[in-house]
Amino acid sequence: MSTAFVRLDARCQHARGLACLPGRAVERSGFMFRQGSLRDLQHIQSCLLREKMNPVGIHPSRFILAEDFESQHPIGFGQMELKSDDGVQKVYELRSLVVDPERRGNGVGKMLVEQLLFSKSPYKEVWLTTTRSKITFYEQLGFSEEAIDLHVPKWLWIEMTLGSLVAPLAVGEPLVVMKLEGQDRFCG
Ligand SMILES: CC(C)(COP(=O)(O)OP(=O)(O)OC[C@H]1O[C@@H](n2cnc3c(N)ncnc32)[C@H](O)[C@@H]1OP(=O)(O)O)[C@@H](O)C(=O)NCCC(=O)NCCS
Repeated sequence: MSTAFVRLDARCQHARGLACLPGRAVERSGFMFRQGSLRDLQHIQSCLLREKMNPVGIHPSRFILAEDFESQHPIGFGQMELKSDDGVQKVYELRSLVVDPERRGNGVGKMLVEQLLFSKSPYKEVWLTTTRSKITFYEQLGFSEEAIDLHVPKWLWIEMTLGSLVAPLAVGEPLVVMKLEGQDRFCG
């Protein structure tokens, strides 16, 4: 791995968390990345509730947050949950991605996903569930829509089934399953 790009891990400090993205891009956007901690729990849960997303079983230390340089307030977050690991290849679910409504449309979400992927690279696959209007956002990051059928990993079935029923009622859109094939997605 290039010395310019440092994996974000449990010992990560702000400066190291920034390492994935070119400094200029992050400075221009006015935020930095850091790992979540217990003090973020309430903020994460209330944002998830506001967005009609699942606020249950949240472990803040698994999250990466984007934090405003000046106010030091979180402006976005997300997590990659490990779903299977055969000792060689890891499969993750990308979950709980939210950007502050006032900061949307400025690349924060895209950079957050890139940072999340980088933090867990290399991986075999990354899966996610979302709603139809978000397909373009994830396609730009390399994800592809998958058929909702038996080839989807079993660990996603409950979420997929419940989401297929709830999403049209809660957000008025059908649920979509997407996947990113593994590759070393080091940024830069
Ligand atoms: C989805 C979300 C995380 C995107 O964050 P963001 O910071 O606004 O996204 P970005 O500015 O990085 O957008 C990157 C690209 O995706 C596109 N995009 C962003 N949100 C989109 C959406 N809802 N639908 C379609 N395209 C979208 C942007 O136009 C942009 O394209 P461009 O680079 O060609 O301009 C944010 O809208 C959000 O928090 N939504 C509510 C919670 C949610 O739905 N989370 C996802 C659950 S699966």
